[in-house]
Amino acid sequence: MPEKPVAPEPPAPDSPDDHDGPDGPAGPDGRDAPEAHDRSAVRTLLRLWPYVRPVRARLFTAAFVAVVASCLSLVIPLVLKWLVDGPVADRDPGGVWLGALYLLLLGIAEAVLFGYRRWLVARPLSGVEARMRADLYGRLQRLPIAFHDRWASGQLLSRGTTDLMLVRMFLAFPLTFLLVNAVTILAGYVLLLAQDWSLGLVLITPVIPLVIVCSVFEGRYGAVARRAQDQVGDLTTVVEESVLGIRIVKGFGRHRSQATAFRELSGRLRGTELVKARLLATIWAVITFVPELAIGAALVLGTVQVADGDLSAGTLVAFLSTALALRWPVESIGFLLAMSQEAATATERYFEVMDAEEEPDAAPDAGDTRATAAGGPGGHGGVLFEGVSFRYPDAPADAPAVLDGIDLHIRPGETLALVGGTGSGKTTLTALVPRLHEASGGRILLDGEDIALMERDRLRSLVSMAFEEPTLFSASVGENVLMGADGAAGEPELRRALGVAQADGFVERLPEGAGTQVGEQGLSLSGGQRQRLALARAVVGRPRFLVLDDPLSALDVHTEARVEAALREVLRDTTALVVAHRPSTVMLADRVALLSRGRIAAVGTHHELLRSSEEYAWLMSGEGEGGPR
Ligand SMILES: Nc1ncnc2c1ncn2[C@@H]1O[C@H](COP(=O)(O)OP(=O)(O)O)[C@@H](O)[C@H]1O
Ligand SMILES: [Mg+2]
Repeated sequence: MPEKPVAPEPPAPDSPDDHDGPDGPAGPDGRDAPEAHDRSAVRTLLRLWPYVRPVRARLFTAAFVAVVASCLSLVIPLVLKWLVDGPVADRDPGGVWLGALYLLLLGIAEAVLFGYRRWLVARPLSGVEARMRADLYGRLQRLPIAFHDRWASGQLLSRGTTDLMLVRMFLAFPLTFLLVNAVTILAGYVLLLAQDWSLGLVLITPVIPLVIVCSVFEGRYGAVARRAQDQVGDLTTVVEESVLGIRIVKGFGRHRSQATAFRELSGRLRGTELVKARLLATIWAVITFVPELAIGAALVLGTVQVADGDLSAGTLVAFLSTALALRWPVESIGFLLAMSQEAATATERYFEVMDAEEEPDAAPDAGDTRATAAGGPGGHGGVLFEGVSFRYPDAPADAPAVLDGIDLHIRPGETLALVGGTGSGKTTLTALVPRLHEASGGRILLDGEDIALMERDRLRSLVSMAFEEPTLFSASVGENVLMGADGAAGEPELRRALGVAQADGFVERLPEGAGTQVGEQGLSLSGGQRQRLALARAVVGRPRFLVLDDPLSALDVHTEARVEAALREVLRDTTALVVAHRPSTVMLADRVALLSRGRIAAVGTHHELLRSSEEYAWLMSGEGEGGPR
């Protein structure tokens, strides 16, 4: 996966030939969401309500406090007016000091109230962010594999980090201050008009052009913000892949091309950020300049009026300082709108994931006629595939189905080996049993019970899996293995499972035995060691059904033989489907099924198939890729 940089603009389709490795399709960059043109920022942001609801009381209180604090700043000009027309005009120093004291107290009160507001919102809002993040994480766990195949991990990562931070910041600032500023501006205008309505009208004129400019700005900024956030997701993907694939990047000397890919994406992001900055600069300039012009005009008019004796000096001072006090609420509207747009985009991106369809618990068309058809005592036990077909949801419509009418019966307690060429659909077939993918047609019965009607949790407690590409988590060896069992399993089960997988030897030699931490992805272990731990994880819970997708491929022949001997013990009371390549693994099985062109071409013992099937004989001869001719 890491050797191919994240697809630039139109995502390059993955080559469909070989999916044996860890590289699932890189998928599009998660931008398959409807192009957001007709979206309304307000409607999007309203979707946050369920998360905000629990803290609404705090938020409303905080907003109220902020409104009071902000309106206090409007009282200051009134004190000034009293000061100029009263004590200053009367040359009364005591009155001036008193006025100064009032101003100081007002300033302190305003500061204290704003601080109180911050304190009120900080804790509940980080709670909101945490809750949204937890929901996103839970959702990601429940979304089907098909979803994860499609979405680049960086896109998901950036939604859980940057986007949620933007949402929290929106709830902390713009949400409150758009309201606070609106109230302040309204109250300010009332004061202005009350003081001198003709000068007040001069100041109101810029409102109309400003509203128009703001709405144009909002639309444009929203689109650019969306682009920027998507690009952050792409960038995250590249960084993540280069870090995870650092061995391949280094081993193939690809650091330069990886760096180029990174530079290109970050250059693109920088370009988008610059567009954002330019838009912001423009709106800021307009919002600052136009009111300033109006204040200038009012100043000239007012001075003339004072000179003519139509207006008291105190009123003019009060008028102008009210106008100046309104400057910040007006000017900040530009970036408050910008932040709101970004938050709307972030919310939209968040809900794109939250709205993705979860795995249905029971298949939608599962009528009760299917419930027990072939099941029940005396019916087919074991695993039964009946006319199972499957095509990947994102495969082109004209491509043939990967699986097409699979009929296969694995008897209770039997071990069936599944053999087929690369890309014949073995991995796909195994993934259908625990419903990692949903079959597109036909049905699969476990001991007579249709898996489409089973609760997913129960199904997955019955079926255990080990994959060819073993994934270990950043945890101890023991924890990694015991992940395969329910909570009750402990030391004895762990020891037994490690023994079956022939992992006890090397685990004992680890510095802290089964308590040793394995690194992210378990990279401190060899491939064969990881495979054995994954195998131990699959058998530790003594599952009724075991599905092994070529779990021994990285073992040497001797270790493999020992694992097989031990597995045979385990497999005695387990119904197992084992994907195999080597004759030695196949020998483990009671019977073998050959998968070819999406169908089960033959079933029988190893020796029967060797005789009857040319393709099987060829596959087992170990002559490599191609096909029997
Ligand atoms: N996630 C996927 N999306 C689309 N096509 C896929 C996906 N995974 C596998 N395929 C395709 O399905 C076919 C069977 O793949 P797979 O089951 O992995 O084969 P096998 O395990 O037998 O080598 C291949 O042609 C592969 O390209
Ligand atoms: Mg495979």
